[in-house]
Amino acid sequence: MAKKTVNDIDLKNARVLMRADFNVPVKNGRITDDTRIRAALPTIKYILKQKGSSLILMSHLGRPKGTIKPELSLKPVAARLGNLLGISIIMASDCVGDEVAEKSKNLKSGEVMLLENLRFHAEEEKNDPDFAKQLASLGTIFVNDAFGTAHRAHASTEGIAHFITAVAGFLMEKEIRFLGGVLENPEKPFVAIIGGAKVSTKIGVLESLLKRATSIVIGGGMAYTFLKAQGHSIGKSLIENDFLKTAENLLKHAASEEVRIILPQDHLVASEFTETAGAELVDSIDIPDGKIGMDVGPKTLESCRSVIEQAKTVVWNGPMGVFEFDNFAKGTLEVAEMVADCRGTTVVGGGDSVAAVNKFGLSGRIDHVSTGGGASLEFLEGRELPGIKVLEEK
Ligand code: 3PG
Repeated sequence: MAKKTVNDIDLKNARVLMRADFNVPVKNGRITDDTRIRAALPTIKYILKQKGSSLILMSHLGRPKGTIKPELSLKPVAARLGNLLGISIIMASDCVGDEVAEKSKNLKSGEVMLLENLRFHAEEEKNDPDFAKQLASLGTIFVNDAFGTAHRAHASTEGIAHFITAVAGFLMEKEIRFLGGVLENPEKPFVAIIGGAKVSTKIGVLESLLKRATSIVIGGGMAYTFLKAQGHSIGKSLIENDFLKTAENLLKHAASEEVRIILPQDHLVASEFTETAGAELVDSIDIPDGKIGMDVGPKTLESCRSVIEQAKTVVWNGPMGVFEFDNFAKGTLEVAEMVADCRGTTVVGGGDSVAAVNKFGLSGRIDHVSTGGGASLEFLEGRELPGIKVLEEK
């Protein structure tokens, strides 16, 4: 069933309390990527357009684990958000307490206040009911637009909804629409591209997609565990020996579901895992002793192209190789271009593949680039995310 959004309730004269995911990378007090702040703007602007409404924003930043860490203050976010909106944002010194409660009540129509990092209080991650109640008391309506944190049952994402009317923001709605669409009703052929370093973190998503996809491309470091499970030699490549049986079972499951699996058929390898290592092409599935698989080769990319070109739905999670090293970025770059060129619905989720798409400047040509890392992975596993579950149904 669909969740209520800001469009479904009256926000006139409301003091809106909105959870955003402003967990952005900050280096020496400077935000290095403000994608998540920009992604919250449609909901923020919509709320501020409602007559008589004011807005209280809250988020976590990093993992301070219940202690005050000045370097994890949300002050830089307040400054960036103020620039983006062209207004000045009131920065609160905390997220609960008398002073914050007083300031919230006195907010005038059109004013925006950002609360200080929720995780400076251990109660946030413990989903402490008293803490959740205190947060809830700051507003008259709760809007959750923090898809990136929806997989955490924390006070500001789950607990709070037990004390106040809770609806989704536009970003949350969009994430659910695209990621949910992939799971519920993908137009076929449906191609899933799953990469990244470890099989162990992708078992759930592979199991879930095996029930839905037409073809699954498996790349990145995790592919070598699958190749070894098939009896191939993988040299010194990354391997999770404890997951060989799991890989074998997943391949059997794919065969029984008649899902085509595309594994690397050739490789770019190196003698050492360093940024300056030269790339050598290995034109076979087997990798010689002493060599490390770092990226997929041209034959593999042709197989990827043959399915991605025809796809009506594509979901991509995890890079094809060590794309952070220029000599081994080609596989991930080419797959990113194939996804961008695909005429079907294209969805990219997961921190590293999103970073890759951004690095290559292709995010504008993808239908939906998720703001969730762990959250999009858990969503694609078919799990119900606690921060979404508690929102009101339409
Ligand atoms: C993320 O960056 O994935 C979210 O903001 C959640 O952060 P967390 O993994 O520290 O809970």
